[in-house]
Amino acid sequence: MGRVALACIAFAIVVVACAPEPPATDPIARGRQVYRQLGCPSCHEPNLLGQRIGPPLDHIGTVAATRRPGLSAQEYIRQSVLDPGAYVVPGYQDSMPRDLGRDLSPTDLDALVAYLSSLK
Ligand code: HEC
Repeated sequence: MGRVALACIAFAIVVVACAPEPPATDPIARGRQVYRQLGCPSCHEPNLLGQRIGPPLDHIGTVAATRRPGLSAQEYIRQSVLDPGAYVVPGYQDSMPRDLGRDLSPTDLDALVAYLSSLK
């Protein structure tokens, strides 16, 4: 195979690897995409030093149901995204950005809530 052909194949691989993922149709898969696109992992997953700014969300689907009396897990998660200061998890700063959910479509917000609720 010629060098040009190899270069073309390498280029094609880079283009495919860098292209944005198409929006998933399954709500939970879509919610995971939204979670990554909005940068939630930058605070909710450990950085290279093993530290994190926000609480772990690995079991938020279960934890959320226990946070505020009268709020279901889904209601609590939705409120945590739209109005993070409404309840501040003990031991953490009220430092979650206020505008993360602002530009989300209702479908993407529902998908984000469905994804987080699925983390039992
Ligand atoms: C700049 C850091 C930061 C970013 C980015 C961030 N968060 Fe948070 N988040 C926090 C902190 C700190 C808390 C704990 C304080 C509080 O309750 O507001 C928190 C709390 C939460 C909680 C409540 C957790 C619990 O145990 O009750 C949820 C749910 C949550 N964040 C979801 C998200 C989602 C979804 C995104 C992306 C759209 C996101 N966060 C982005 C910092 C962040």
